Amino acid sequence: MIYQRVKGMLDYVGEEAAKFRYIEKCFTEEIKKYGFREIITPVLENTEVFVRSSGEESDIVEKEMYTFTDKGRRSLTLRPEGTAGVVRSFIENKLYARPEPEKLYYFAPMFRYSRPQAGRYRQFYQFGVEVFGDVSPLLVADLIASGDKILKRLGIKDIILKINSIGDFSSREAYADRLRAHFAAHRDGLCEDCRRRLDKNPLRVLDCKADSDHPAVIAAPSIADCLSAEAQEYFRKVRAGLDLLGVKYEADSRLVRGLDYYTDIVFEYIYEGDNVYRGLAAGGGGIYADLVSSFGGPDIPGVGYAMGLERILGIMEEQNLFPALDSGLVVAVIGLDEASKEKSLQVASLLREAGYRCELDYAKTALKPQFRLADRAGAGAIVIIGEEERKNNVLTVKNAKTKNQETIPEENLLAYLKEIENENGI
Ligand code: HAM
Repeated sequence: MIYQRVKGMLDYVGEEAAKFRYIEKCFTEEIKKYGFREIITPVLENTEVFVRSSGEESDIVEKEMYTFTDKGRRSLTLRPEGTAGVVRSFIENKLYARPEPEKLYYFAPMFRYSRPQAGRYRQFYQFGVEVFGDVSPLLVADLIASGDKILKRLGIKDIILKINSIGDFSSREAYADRLRAHFAAHRDGLCEDCRRRLDKNPLRVLDCKADSDHPAVIAAPSIADCLSAEAQEYFRKVRAGLDLLGVKYEADSRLVRGLDYYTDIVFEYIYEGDNVYRGLAAGGGGIYADLVSSFGGPDIPGVGYAMGLERILGIMEEQNLFPALDSGLVVAVIGLDEASKEKSLQVASLLREAGYRCELDYAKTALKPQFRLADRAGAGAIVIIGEEERKNNVLTVKNAKTKNQETIPEENLLAYLKEIENENGI
């Protein structure tokens, strides 16, 4: 019996894991510059946390949640997204008691039972940020710009930032009525889910994957015509903030996003390059003015976004953007007889203490297989110890790049390795 990984889930091994960590490092370094602190919440939440926040008519709640009943008969769900759990924790831990806005970031696995394809997995990692307590236009612009900065730091090209306002509560009510009237004549042509959504939440129809090409969806009225004067002014100020920061964006009145908790501003970083990821969002987010209060917390607005690690990693591979991730000098230590093997163990230990990555074969004394191991490990320096070396307290060191080989006093090893690093441009 050969077991396989669960469909839609990935293993990260060696170099892939190094790429994963490199992206994580860039994200966290950049976002800390904005004063965010980390939050780590459980992978599982009570199911109600997601149903209430994402919305009963969202694809996530209707089709994509990994939900099960535990032995205590509680309905639990593997988190499909990060915001709801962070909001739950924000309230439960009374983080709102701090005077200044709370800025939190997370880097964590999410789970959605969707059809696996390029850039869409059942377990995927999100890097996300949430700000509570201040959604003034300049803060929102700065937050959106931080996502843009991160993508630029990673070197990613061909991303278009799309931004829209879906308005305040009254704007959205007016828009929902308009959509109902518009779709009334086309009801029968829509998918079963959308026919139901029309009554409860017609905005969801615009986000449906099955009906995205339907002529009535394409011809649907725009939210822009229903925005209240306040909502329009707020949207204008956020865009002005992005202009101040020199962030390029495209206002797209059709952008609605797939989660119910958004109010006013929504945005997505869409990849427009020419490969399998084309059209997918590297990240997205928006304001949620009422989510905290709808969870029973105080009336505090929030705003945030999340980026998908797998999509970013895939795009970076396509664009050849990863630097050499194992860039330090690797040293291999070779022992040519039983006693020299013991000596090489000690030398390796010293080298590791000095900060080097060090490889050695623990059993073989023949030269060839040990050289092969050094080669596979990418060793830039090879330390060779035999009977002669032991007798005279010296070491033979070979520069694998220049092929130059010298015998040096043992105590000069670290200084000599520095010379090799200089010679090899490390
Ligand atoms: P979302 O748009 O559902 O938003 O997901 C954010 C990002 O996660 C997407 O842009 C995408 O890069 C990645 N993603 C989503 N689903 C998958 C999948 N099946 N496979 C691979 N990557 C995926 C949210 O989750 C919100 N919580 C974002 C947010 C934070 N809004 C406010 N604060």
